[in-house]
Amino acid sequence: MNTNKIKHIGVFTSGGDSPGMNAALYATVRAAEANGIKVTGIRKGYEGMIDGDFTTLKAHELQKLVHTGGTVLKTARSKRFMDLEGRKKALQILNSNSIDALIAIGGDGTFKGLLAFSEICELPFIGIPGTIDNDISGTDYTLGFDSAVNTAIQNIDKIRDTAESHNRVFIVEVMGRDSGYIALHSGLTTGADAILIPESGKDFIYLLDKVSNYNSEDAFLVVVSEGDEIGAELVAAKIKEINPYVDLRITRLGHVQRGGNPSAQDRMLGIRLGVAAVDALFQGRKNVMAGVLHNQLHFTVFEEVVKQHQVNDELKKILELFGK
Ligand code: F6P
Repeated sequence: MNTNKIKHIGVFTSGGDSPGMNAALYATVRAAEANGIKVTGIRKGYEGMIDGDFTTLKAHELQKLVHTGGTVLKTARSKRFMDLEGRKKALQILNSNSIDALIAIGGDGTFKGLLAFSEICELPFIGIPGTIDNDISGTDYTLGFDSAVNTAIQNIDKIRDTAESHNRVFIVEVMGRDSGYIALHSGLTTGADAILIPESGKDFIYLLDKVSNYNSEDAFLVVVSEGDEIGAELVAAKIKEINPYVDLRITRLGHVQRGGNPSAQDRMLGIRLGVAAVDALFQGRKNVMAGVLHNQLHFTVFEEVVKQHQVNDELKKILELFGK
């Protein structure tokens, strides 16, 4: 129940798009409509907020898009919002449109933006974690991570077929700007020989050890996160240095991991968090992110959210065990 007279919510997606954003938009609008609240979609993230690029959202239109990747609201990484002038302009636009709360779907850049905005804007903000990188504190998973891992797995499986046929070494680079989550999950579940992530210091040493014993009688798969400080090229050069006769290829999966239909898990996460975000506003919550921890809804203040999500110890242990 809406106890604090919110009548008009603005919602936007920001930063890198991720599968499940449309499901979250649908759930947000549906929950708001059920309570007689108007929802305005702000297009292109903070850019649209500064420019007043708005559209009215209706649940019956969004329900057709739950199964789609990307974001129907479009998205951007806004440089203008990083400046106080940009944020002042956005505030003025929100006020002149009588928006009395914001729901933001995005990654750490989005939450940093909200934190900065909260210094000049009194409106309540609720965040929903949407990024394939899974690098947000306060939630076990972010929207899009599961879909991106599934895309990575499907592609790495295909690479294995050709790699095994030729007894080749393949280095597959997956996304994750500062985070090894996609590499860790996709590497473990495709039986990779080595997984390199920014959060682990020992993985490169294990790789070098393994490569020195590699006899070219099989494929050898390395999954490396783009955020890893060593990087695919250097890994390739090092492997060649140790073992100059290996037949080696590099594949970068790139943005293919960002697109495609959301998995069941991402759709459900979007539905749960969209409803939770609207409920949170009705309960008078302010400047928190709705997440799911241990399968329970959990609200985390933005200051905590922007701290990098660490890979948990259990997964690190598995990585070490499988890396050796
Ligand atoms: O959204 C996260 C992410 O896909 C990262 O994994 C990647 O480093 C980055 O965005 C790529 O950003 P852009 O689409 O702006 O090149």
